[in-house]
Amino acid sequence: MRLLVTGGAGFIGSNFVHLVLAETDSSVVVLDALTYAGNRASLAGLPDDRFELVVGDIADAPLVDRLVGAADAVVHFAAESHNDNSLHDPRPFLDTNIIGTYTLIEAARRHGTRFHHISTDEVYGDLELDDPNRFTERTPYNPSSPYSSTKAGSDLLVRAWVRSFGLQATISNCSNNYGPYQHVEKFIPRQITNVLDGVRPKLYGAGRNVRDWIHADDHSRAVLTILERGEIGETYLIGADGEQDNRTVVELILELMGQPRDAYDHVQDRAGHDLRYAIDSTKLRTELGWRPQYGDFRAGLAATIDWYREHEAWWRPQKQATEDRYAQQARGSK
Ligand code: NAD
Ligand code: TYD
Repeated sequence: MRLLVTGGAGFIGSNFVHLVLAETDSSVVVLDALTYAGNRASLAGLPDDRFELVVGDIADAPLVDRLVGAADAVVHFAAESHNDNSLHDPRPFLDTNIIGTYTLIEAARRHGTRFHHISTDEVYGDLELDDPNRFTERTPYNPSSPYSSTKAGSDLLVRAWVRSFGLQATISNCSNNYGPYQHVEKFIPRQITNVLDGVRPKLYGAGRNVRDWIHADDHSRAVLTILERGEIGETYLIGADGEQDNRTVVELILELMGQPRDAYDHVQDRAGHDLRYAIDSTKLRTELGWRPQYGDFRAGLAATIDWYREHEAWWRPQKQATEDRYAQQARGSK
């Protein structure tokens, strides 16, 4: 297969590209605008005969038309992806997540190209801590932030294009990912690199918020499974039963890095902060036979810490600018 992977220089997209090129015969063209979140270095060392990076915007209709027309399938990861940024400057989220997705699905419809849309469990809003229910494919959409509402909007566009225009599309909504190549603005890499820099981790509010963690490779394998065996028009939730509250995660990072478990600071909470996400991935497991391979969060986190220790040259150039952006956002919300 000739795959067009949008956002392939970002966190999950780059992990997906590495896995596809290592484990399948497919060739990959990455379309990525290399925003602050995209990193060419995440794609270093890939085989030139099966891999190409095209630097460009998913909202550039002529470019998108040409690339989609030459592909057998599109896997659409590109997005503005960080909630905190969306609260301070929502516009790029509308441009990329809504208009960018619209541009891609119009091209996929014209060319009859298979399309897989990557989305998030955040479209479903949040759950109470003691709610016995988890998100399923039937949970009503109820997004909280500019990020999650633009992802919800993009999901609905894809669904409408399937129904009205016969777009050959599937959708997946995944829980929080961790692993190598994640930008240092996100929770886990931010705290790991803080500790490496001798800075105390920063926990929003009381830290009781729960996220359902999955390793990026388990996400990638689920996407490959859906590409191979998913039913057109269907949505699949991806999750690995990895619920942890943020406080536990910070304490675990500190412990694994040889620091006192309480060596962190509580900082101002995020506006509209979703309390809990939790995924029921029964449909993906029973209908398509997918299973996560990274069952042990502690071991996966320890391996991720090692990766950041060993790849300072990858994250160092982003670190100061990221912390400056956080400081500026904190000043802006006072
Ligand atoms: P990321 O921010 O690390 O990467 C996004 C990539 O998209 C970057 O390489 C960036 O340069 C590129 N990009 C942004 N705007 C673009 C544009 N207009 N044109 C072309 N490229 C553009 O994000 P991520 O964490 O890897 O997330 C990837 C996808 O997975 C997103 O769709 C996100 O909503 C979804 N998702 C993420 C998580 C998570 O935990 N990170 C969980 C579930 C779903
Ligand atoms: P994040 O990685 O931004 O992902 P998302 O908002 O998509 O869940 O944040 C994960 C959780 O960690 C979320 O509850 C917010 C919290 N958080 C902190 O406590 N401190 C931080 O410095 C960051 C970036 C996030």
